[in-house]
Amino acid sequence: MYSDKVMEHFENPRNIGELEDADGVGEVGNPTCGDIMKISINVEDDIIQDIKFKTFGCGAAIATSSITTEMVKGKSIKEAQKLTNKDVAEALGGLPPEKMHCSNLAADALKKAINNYLGLNGGDMCDDCDDKSGKHQ
Ligand code: FES
Repeated sequence: MYSDKVMEHFENPRNIGELEDADGVGEVGNPTCGDIMKISINVEDDIIQDIKFKTFGCGAAIATSSITTEMVKGKSIKEAQKLTNKDVAEALGGLPPEKMHCSNLAADALKKAINNYLGLNGGDMCDDCDDKSGKHQ
C-alpha cells in the first residue's frame, strides 16, 4: 500500500522536534481525521536554515512531514512557498488516494510557518482543501 520511501521516512523520520527560537511556527489540524502537525522554521538571509516538525498523526502524515522538512531545508522562502502537497506526495513515490489529504497537512503547516515568519495572517488552507482529492481549491 505504501511506497518504500514512505515506509523509510515513517521509520526514520528526519528533523523531528521543535525549534525553541523559531522565526516562524505553523500548526494545522486535519478536520477529516483530527491529526495535528506543527512545523517550526529558522530563517536567515531569506533561507530556511533549520526546520523541525511534530506530528500527532498517521504514518503517512509523519512521512510527509519528514520529507517536507528535507525538501525545503536550505531553500529560499520563495522556493519553499511553491511546495505543493502534490510535490510532497510525488517525492514519496506516491500516496494511496485515501491518504492524499495527509500531504495537505505538511504543505499547509509549512505555509503557515512561512506566513508566521513573514508576519502575514492566514495561510491555513485546510478549509479550502478538498480532502477527497487532496487538492487545494
Ligand atoms: Fe490523518 Fe493521515 S489520516 S493525516
